[in-house]
Amino acid sequence: MLRRFQKRDLSGLAFGVPRSVSSHSIYPQAHPGLYLTLLGYLMTGRGNSGQTLSHHMPNQNTFTWITSSFPELSNIQTLGQGGQKLVFSGQHASEGNVVLKIIHPSQDPEGVRREILAVQQIATIRVPRILAVGRVDTPIGSCIWIREQRIVGQTLRERLQAGPLSIDELFTFGTQVLEALADAEKANIVHRDVKPENIMMDTNGNYWLLDFGISRHLTMTPITPAAHAFGKFTPGYAPPEQFRNIQNVIDSRADLLAYGVTFYECAIGRQPFQYGAANPLEVLRRVENDALPRLSLPCAASGSLSDLISALTQRRRDHRPLTVVDAQSWFQDIVNAK
Ligand SMILES: Nc1ncnc2c1ncn2[C@@H]1O[C@H](COP(=O)(O)OP(=O)(O)OP(=O)(O)O)[C@@H](O)[C@H]1O
Ligand SMILES: [Mg+2]
Repeated sequence: MLRRFQKRDLSGLAFGVPRSVSSHSIYPQAHPGLYLTLLGYLMTGRGNSGQTLSHHMPNQNTFTWITSSFPELSNIQTLGQGGQKLVFSGQHASEGNVVLKIIHPSQDPEGVRREILAVQQIATIRVPRILAVGRVDTPIGSCIWIREQRIVGQTLRERLQAGPLSIDELFTFGTQVLEALADAEKANIVHRDVKPENIMMDTNGNYWLLDFGISRHLTMTPITPAAHAFGKFTPGYAPPEQFRNIQNVIDSRADLLAYGVTFYECAIGRQPFQYGAANPLEVLRRVENDALPRLSLPCAASGSLSDLISALTQRRRDHRPLTVVDAQSWFQDIVNAK
């Protein structure tokens, strides 16, 4: 379904609110010295499009425009926002609870197309379904919009503010997110940005994987914008092969490391590579050089879980399980032995 809207007054449309440094995914500029260029990024504070985003909540003009442009939605409200997206919740007559995402025009349309394709190609119940896609003309340019199934709940990042997950929550998280990643692997898609900001816990305690914004389709030519020979990543979750952007060795083992680190964080309540680090460069050095201390959990499966998480978080990908499906069956053995 494709809809086109006329230009309306969108003077108040503003994108993005500041997020914690820890949640930022970044594009280091192309340069032989990764650390130096990354430092350059940090000092300029510029994002992937090279433009600094304004940091305001949508104002009344935005709401007036959204309401008149999307008459099929009622009760529209601002939800969590990404740096390049405005995200609203709303009610649709036949689809029920939905979210509406309006993508900033500076985003590469091919990247957005691939994000949509990824969600559509993965046969899973653990990723919110895309219900409709379209384009809307606005005074700041033509924006792509996406309407998708709304997950009513909180992000894992929000949940972690209340402390580590309980053992039961940890097992549910472990099983369900691994299932989402295994389903992605079957579709030859690597998510590449698994972290608590991109996982939601619904009000029934089930987990959902969001945000395929930087996912990679292994069967498609990589998108490498000329100005960004290095790919996008989040320090502390991305494995060395990803932040060094060795494209031809990226596979689902990149997601296994990010998943293992997220699991570890959920278990102890803090990000093991970021905690106490002076800056993102130190975080990257830790990922490359330090093995995480063994996990110790208050349950009988502590030893076997710790073995699995150690394997998943190995800095060398050939020391991690070969596939998500392998990790899944290892995890299942631990669940069965509980
Ligand atoms: N289907 C959904 N249901 C409920 N909330 C959602 C859904 N999708 C997104 N959100 C909320 O919106 C936030 C941002 O969404 P998303 O992760 O897709 O954007 P983003 O890609 O991180 O943006 P950017 O990377 O440009 O900063 C999420 O962290 C979550 O709080
Ligand atoms: Mg996100």
